[in-house]
Amino acid sequence: MQKCLIWLLFLGVLAGCQKPDSPAKTILAPTLTPAPVAKKNASWVRYPNAQITLSPQAQLGKHLFFDASLSASGQMSCATCHQPEHAYAPANTLAVQLGGEKLDQSGTRAVPSLRYLTYTPMFTRHYYLPNAEGLEDEGPAGGFTHDGAVSTLHEQALIPLLSSNEMANLTAATVAKKIHSSSYFGEFQQVFDAQAEDDMILHQVGVALEAFQFEDPSFHPYTSKFDAVVSGNATFSEAEMHGYQVFNNPAKGNCAKCHIATVGAGGKPAQFTDFAFEAVGVPRNPAIPANKSPGYSDLGICGPYRKDMAKETQFCGMFKTPTLRNASERKVFFHNGYFHSMEEVVHFYAERDSKPEKWYPQKAGRIQMYDDLPRQYHANIDHANAPFSKTAGKLSEDEMNDLVTFLATLTDGYTLTAGGELP
Ligand code: HEC
Ligand code: HEC
Repeated sequence: MQKCLIWLLFLGVLAGCQKPDSPAKTILAPTLTPAPVAKKNASWVRYPNAQITLSPQAQLGKHLFFDASLSASGQMSCATCHQPEHAYAPANTLAVQLGGEKLDQSGTRAVPSLRYLTYTPMFTRHYYLPNAEGLEDEGPAGGFTHDGAVSTLHEQALIPLLSSNEMANLTAATVAKKIHSSSYFGEFQQVFDAQAEDDMILHQVGVALEAFQFEDPSFHPYTSKFDAVVSGNATFSEAEMHGYQVFNNPAKGNCAKCHIATVGAGGKPAQFTDFAFEAVGVPRNPAIPANKSPGYSDLGICGPYRKDMAKETQFCGMFKTPTLRNASERKVFFHNGYFHSMEEVVHFYAERDSKPEKWYPQKAGRIQMYDDLPRQYHANIDHANAPFSKTAGKLSEDEMNDLVTFLATLTDGYTLTAGGELP
């Protein structure tokens, strides 16, 4: 209303002003004549363009994010593994990256994209969704990293700074010393208490990195073709539309069950994840050096990196569902980086249980199903629903191809503005 009054008083423009009692949707619906497919999809959402001016904290965080002198090697910054031009994921095709003082220490998990993390909820053991009978327990959800162990982005930032196989600073004091001699120390002093204890300096570094990831629009641009289509500014091709249907159909891809494809409460754009955890049964990846030891298994929620849930064996093998935005551009997929193309991923989903011989190694004539997870935890693997269930409608090659085509519409950069250009 206030906006309308200003318009009336200063410009005398009546058009577009909302009458006090008219429903809000009358101003939201733009005068569009979308093609039939777009009309069917359009939910008249226009995603807000994020603010462009960064706060001083976020501006400082930006310097920190790209500063390779914050590593023991002097050659590795956050951006080395999280490259902005690759949706903040790596450009190379390695399953896991090398870090440490001599850049020769291998990681154990694939590097996730840092886009669209803002809505990640805190980790919870039980997340409930309403259903016909009341509430359904969806199991654990939320938290940062593949196992949900980290509650905030500022805590997350300290892990790579201190890990011996990443940026490899030995202590908080090492980081604090580097901050004191950095080119942006003046900015640091303006934002934070530069005389604080080393642990506090390290905490402040985390807070600045968090502010950068929250505020900078490059972390949540919403400029994909999908966004343009749902806001009525573009139309899916026939193959994309068909792929979208396969993605949503509970008896076909059923992907949307976990990779939520609809606008959320308050007009929150589709995030393509429910942030929940599942054991998908991805094959063991021999390209990860740690996997050379037969006794080693990355069990996700129940360890070995996460310690607090070690006894909750019903969660062993479960990893967080990632967003599928920009996934088509990824060079490696899943927590262990086993797959290298979206075609493989989609075929794996559709054929894991019906053609296991195609996906798992054989020993003495026996297929080693779910070979990255010790046998006692195989019951944790999701079998009940499509696309895994053997009884659900199988996906044809055409359906899989169209699914891959649809997934490419989730890549940012199709338009310049969030949700697409104004018509
Ligand atoms: C050597 C490569 C490497 C570097 C350098 C690196 N990261 Fe990461 N990052 C990873 C990996 C691998 C993971 C997944 C870790 C896991 O699941 O245990 C990750 C996870 C994350 C996550 C959680 C994402 C999610 O989906 O929950 C955030 C946030 C993050 N990194 C931020 C940063 C910041 C900030 C820096 C710089 C201080 C940084 N990273 C430096 C490899 C790296
Ligand atoms: C039951 C929940 C569930 C369903 C259904 C599901 N996914 Fe996933 N998806 C996950 C989880 C959990 C992961 C991460 C698993 C891991 O890293 O081990 C994942 C990971 C992925 C990844 C890897 C992304 C990355 O950043 O590495 C892609 C791609 C993907 N899913 C696509 C699909 C498609 C396509 C479908 C439908 C055919 C689908 N998913 C159905 C839960 C699900």
